[in-house]
Amino acid sequence: MNFSGIGFKLAGLTGELPFFYSSKIKKKLVTELAGKKIYFKKKILSTQDQIKILAQNNAPEGTVVVAKEQVKGKGRAGKAWVSPPGGVYLSCLFKPKNISSRDISRVSLAMSVACRKALEKQNCPGVLLKWPNDLYLGKKKAGGILCEADIQGSKVNFLAVGIGINVNTKKLPPEAISLRLFFGKKFSEIALIREVLYQTEKYYLKIEQNQFTELLADFKKHCFLWGNQVKVDLGKEVIEAKAEGIDVNGYLVLRKKDGLIVTVSSGQVNKLSV
Ligand code: BTN
Repeated sequence: MNFSGIGFKLAGLTGELPFFYSSKIKKKLVTELAGKKIYFKKKILSTQDQIKILAQNNAPEGTVVVAKEQVKGKGRAGKAWVSPPGGVYLSCLFKPKNISSRDISRVSLAMSVACRKALEKQNCPGVLLKWPNDLYLGKKKAGGILCEADIQGSKVNFLAVGIGINVNTKKLPPEAISLRLFFGKKFSEIALIREVLYQTEKYYLKIEQNQFTELLADFKKHCFLWGNQVKVDLGKEVIEAKAEGIDVNGYLVLRKKDGLIVTVSSGQVNKLSV
């Protein structure tokens, strides 16, 4: 890794490092960990790839990479994440002490609840969740979270939490929406980044402290899938079933047509119209 001047040379695209942007975020940030070190880039390939490189180079817990635009933004299940200017794109590094590999699904749900809360605090009420990590406004996706873990056996070396929110973006794919398009006004990206970091840390620490029950109830309350017929793409298999809820691990509980209950730890869920 190459350090230079006041900033930090990040891999990927070259570009300036407007130091003021990171300090603007930091100014009113009241976190213990998240954002203690913030790297900002105007244009990057992917903040998620960058945070993983930083993690492998011993970056401290709470390191954050923020970009105004991503050229190769990554979504879940190998999909691309369209990341034009106007959105919030950030990745945060956590180094858990008390979270094992079997808790990853819990972390993932915790991050969804955290982002929903952050949006609510920034005057964006009514955000709905789609298991495991999608943020919806009405019937369209307004944001997504990519939780990746570096694991050795049951030990989690680090977690890279990538968050993408369509904030002031005007041009998006038809299935997506931005806060601006939905609420009809502009939002402060910096204020939202601060709130997201605050809530993300708060909910991450809840999982570290094994406080999952309340958070699970919060997720259940705001997820719009319950009682609906869904199609779950597991990669090698596609299941059609009714979404019934989530279990104590954060896995999705499904009831098949023959009455058989199955749980899945990951997968792409789509609501079937009935
Ligand atoms: C999804 O819903 O598929 C997850 C989308 C996650 C996108 C964010 S944007 C910041 C971070 N960098 C990436 O390349 N991806 C995540």
